[in-house]
Amino acid sequence: MQEVISFIKNNKDNYINELKEFLKIPSISTLPENKGDIIKCAQFVADKLKQARMSRVEIFKTEGHPIVYGEWLGAPGKPTVLVYGHYDVQPVDPIELWDSPPFEPIIKDGNIFARGATDDKGQVFMHIKSVEAFFKTIGSLPLNIKYLIEGEEEVGSSNLTAFIYQNKDLLKCNAVLISDTALYEPGSPALTYGLRGLSYMEVEVTGPNRDLHSGEYGGAVANPINVLAEIISKLQDKNGRITIPGFYDDVLKITKKEKENYKKLKFSEKKFAKSLNVSELKGEKGFSTLERIWVRPTLDCNGIIGGFTGKGAKTVIASKATAKISMRLVPNQDSKKISKLFTKYIQQIVPKSVKVKITSLHGAEPCLTPLNDKATIAASKAMEETFGKKTIFIREGGSIPIVSDFSKSLKAPVVLMGLGLNSENLHSPNEHFNLNHFELGIISSANFLKEYSL
Ligand code: BES
Ligand code: MN
Ligand code: MN
Repeated sequence: MQEVISFIKNNKDNYINELKEFLKIPSISTLPENKGDIIKCAQFVADKLKQARMSRVEIFKTEGHPIVYGEWLGAPGKPTVLVYGHYDVQPVDPIELWDSPPFEPIIKDGNIFARGATDDKGQVFMHIKSVEAFFKTIGSLPLNIKYLIEGEEEVGSSNLTAFIYQNKDLLKCNAVLISDTALYEPGSPALTYGLRGLSYMEVEVTGPNRDLHSGEYGGAVANPINVLAEIISKLQDKNGRITIPGFYDDVLKITKKEKENYKKLKFSEKKFAKSLNVSELKGEKGFSTLERIWVRPTLDCNGIIGGFTGKGAKTVIASKATAKISMRLVPNQDSKKISKLFTKYIQQIVPKSVKVKITSLHGAEPCLTPLNDKATIAASKAMEETFGKKTIFIREGGSIPIVSDFSKSLKAPVVLMGLGLNSENLHSPNEHFNLNHFELGIISSANFLKEYSL
């Protein structure tokens, strides 16, 4: 093992240079104009898997973006690990807030800056380089490995879902390893055992058949923007509870043990507020901030469109207004059920003066991963060896749509070994990835392969 780890440490600069090439490809999954870059990026991943000596590498076309698959099954009798990650990234807007261009990676203060650095290219790359290091030193792996690297995670993974149900044999494994989450704090090992789900809705309110002069018509018809604001304000009460009937029915209560564990993490609400430059935190009454993010469902308006939004003033009553509203869900809520409850409730509260159209944009199911599985224990040990500190177990507020399907279709435990930090601006300008965590991630990955093979 020492040989593998030394090799990784000696090659850190090469790995960073290769990662830069990966980060230069603007693989934004949601924008049609980046389709060519997506294809180029899938090819890049496939080439890197070949370079890491995978005996089979294939790019599977889908109705959306391609899925990259790789495997090396040269350790009969040993377990098989499936590494999942995504090569697609979020859009870069607002571009003017980036200090350097998002697809021209640069290194500053031990971090690499680029869109996708921490979410998820940097983290995917760790698991490719750890395997390559085994082949370049020992010449083989202590277990079998499969890779499934997709290009649609940031848009809900809908084609991958169908793919994994249709390719259960191809993807058969003993455990799934994912690095697409965050550490609890810099330099300390952590494993995530819970993620929230998501139900993402769009609400379009239509009033008059055309935009109107706000003087000639103002006061005589309902203003769709005002009505939409009214609807949004009715979705939560003054205690921060969501008012949709039935919304909390399936929410799993936090256990006493979890409550105690979270207290031990000594989360500082004060520091957190300060880091966000807000004078006060806000959320559901009766819960701590960590509980609000990790174990409680939420509802947020993500965007609102309507009327005149240019510079200066234009007097107008818009014909339409739209809001994008997401609900983060927790076990055992079901995203389809919640979308239905949301739709029903909006239809109930919308005034007769406007028409409303409600669409579900995408969803993800919440999940909890087993803590006592062999793979989780191996991951915990691997991180402990790497960081020289005890691994802590956390939940997180974000979502990875495919995780619940892995448990359902492959019946394999999922290990969430995230090396990112929530402060690394994922989905936001100046995204970056700590290069020390990048190296620790490659070593943790290598140690995991060894620990899990024993
Ligand atoms: N990697 C994130 C999810 C994440 C980040 C989980 C940090 C925990 C900690 C993933 O790429 C992501 O952004 N997921 C989306 C899912 C959605 C687009 C269906 C999310 O959570 O908003
Ligand atoms: Mn991600
Ligand atoms: Mn993301």
